Amino acid sequence: MNKPQIVLGLTGGIAAYKSAELVRLLVKQNYAVHVAMTEAAMHFITPTTMQALSGHPVITSQWDASVSNGMPHINMSRAANLIVIAPASADFIAKLAHGIADDLLSTLCLARNCPLLIAPAMNKEMWQHPATQRNLAQLEADGVQIMGPDSGIQACGEEGLGRMLEPEQLAQLITASRQPKLFTGKKILLTAGPTYEAIDAVRGITNRSSGKMGYAIAQAAREMGAEVTLISGPTTLATPRDVHQINVQSAIQMYDAVMHNVLTCDIFIGVAAVADFRVAHPNEQKIKNSRNNLTLELVSNPDILAQVASLPNPPFCVGFAAESENLTEYAEQKRLAKKLPLLIGNIAQQAIGSDYNELILFDDTGIHPLPRSDKLTLARSIMRYMAQIYPGDK
Ligand code: C5P
Repeated sequence: MNKPQIVLGLTGGIAAYKSAELVRLLVKQNYAVHVAMTEAAMHFITPTTMQALSGHPVITSQWDASVSNGMPHINMSRAANLIVIAPASADFIAKLAHGIADDLLSTLCLARNCPLLIAPAMNKEMWQHPATQRNLAQLEADGVQIMGPDSGIQACGEEGLGRMLEPEQLAQLITASRQPKLFTGKKILLTAGPTYEAIDAVRGITNRSSGKMGYAIAQAAREMGAEVTLISGPTTLATPRDVHQINVQSAIQMYDAVMHNVLTCDIFIGVAAVADFRVAHPNEQKIKNSRNNLTLELVSNPDILAQVASLPNPPFCVGFAAESENLTEYAEQKRLAKKLPLLIGNIAQQAIGSDYNELILFDDTGIHPLPRSDKLTLARSIMRYMAQIYPGDK
């Protein structure tokens, strides 16, 4: 009953075949999907396919006599929480930009009172054409969210911008667009990933942190309206959309970057697996293996999070603790020692490198488990919880 209702509109383009997969993903994510197709879209994929995948009748005509009030465009657009057009052809984009409503889909876009997201798909010349770019600028100014397009080999054999985003990317952007804007106007600073402590010119000490949890939190925070700066140790991950990223290697570099940015932030989240020690005197050149033994002197790195939390006017500080045993006891001890209002604990062996995790939140009110899920879903839950306990301005 309470499933979010999406109207998925298909217009004429070969990328329509990807929309079948998009429906499947959206249904799996618990959306009720109602498909509307233009005449041109039906040349590429059948309503039968879309009906089978969505589990709802597909609407293709404004003149459907079975609709009791004769107004399918009003009925559908009122029931929708979101309208997504994928693929959105150049022709349909032009219609939207000019408020033309000459078929069911364009009419229900004009009649809507909910957000509209479009996934353009067209040949690269059509995409680059000044008319298309003018229309897109107009749609953006009208508050329409444009997803993609991607660049690559096109169905016509040419290569360039204009490919529709992949269904997984679209499903993710759709869910992202629906996140509550709980952190609008807030600046969030995060650390993520491992650090790398040089031994010599080519060797170093690091750890197995992938950065996935930190990057997911950066993305979730951005989706919820925050201005996000992500200070990252070496990872292979892509910077989340609209996030400002500063890349560092060592704990000292991470410390410097944090201290440089911390005074203006409202919330600091330390997700990085910062090395506790660094090599006291790293060799500038590669150490030769001619000797039998090598002793490295290690010195302590600064505890970045603890230092931020003890600043005179600290931001709201959140920590992470990956423990291999006794999670509840060790994590709460760590929270108190570092003076954190919120600490998020997990079992290291389950978390490192995985796309999934299981977390426990520790705060003044007690412990709050977050069941096993993918890291982005967990990140969104963490941010929603944080919004509840965040006391507001410093
Ligand atoms: O390593 P430890 O378990 O103490 O890490 C707990 C929290 O402290 C994490 O949020 C981590 O990012 C942060 N930390 C830090 N600087 C360190 C060590 C840990 O900011 N040198």
